[in-house]
Amino acid sequence: MNTHHQDQRPLVVIGATRGTGLIVAQELIRSGRPLRVVARNRLKARSLLGEAIPIFEADLGVPGTARDSALDEALRGSAGILFTAAVPPGPARESTLQAVDYGGVVATIAAAQRVGFTGRFVYLTTMGVHRRNWLIRILDTVKWNILHWRKEAERALSASGLDTVIVRAGILTDASGGATLNIAPGDRPVGLSTKIARADVAKVLLGAIEDPTPNRDVSVFADLQK
Ligand SMILES: NC(=O)c1ccc[n+]([C@@H]2O[C@H](COP(=O)([O-])OP(=O)(O)OC[C@H]3O[C@@H](n4cnc5c(N)ncnc54)[C@H](OP(=O)(O)O)[C@@H]3O)[C@@H](O)[C@H]2O)c1
Repeated sequence: MNTHHQDQRPLVVIGATRGTGLIVAQELIRSGRPLRVVARNRLKARSLLGEAIPIFEADLGVPGTARDSALDEALRGSAGILFTAAVPPGPARESTLQAVDYGGVVATIAAAQRVGFTGRFVYLTTMGVHRRNWLIRILDTVKWNILHWRKEAERALSASGLDTVIVRAGILTDASGGATLNIAPGDRPVGLSTKIARADVAKVLLGAIEDPTPNRDVSVFADLQK
């Protein structure tokens, strides 16, 4: 990414202590772009990202003043949000998914509105939320009813009036990236051939912050789904 940004307001990464969000944060540090991080474990975030990055401690799934004021402080005066947080892979109860995957988005929108945020909200979700097939049904069983809560999160974003870019990723891998990517409008069915490296998704998310076109909705994957 460009290292000479006109806009020196910080970007806020929510979900920067693992996976795609961690790669996004590391890339921002490398490029010299100011960033702030919202994390539920300050020590973990510090150990991964260093002492210089402002960390705002908030558990997205625990509503209350502590969470909301951390989000307010993180978002005040910022240029954009990169939201990659979610309940970790593996079985999860619906109440947890509702609280974090949906409630976290709603809480972030509310904070953005409280502090007069005018930047872009880049939201990472999964391909296939609107395109049910056998694979997405397995996900919806392991993470019980997750598709419903992801749809609700999208609904909240679309009702928020914020400039939102929804990035729908295929199955994530920890490969090094650099693949030729398909970036297709809207949702696409997820499949075993729609894998994509987290490193490549991170590039797409950062590109979505820079792209002048507002309110986009794209699927990203390395190979075309049949
Ligand atoms: N796995 C796939 O194949 C796949 C495919 C497409 C899309 N996706 C979606 O892509 C996104 C990123 O996935 P990923 O695997 O790269 O990341 P990830 O490893 O799931 O990391 C999620 C991040 O969210 C944070 N988080 C979780 N619960 C939180 C809470 N209650 N409060 C605050 N932060 C919380 C985690 O913090 P901690 O470090 O503290 O846990 C971590 O930083 C997710 O939405 C995922 O569902 C996944």
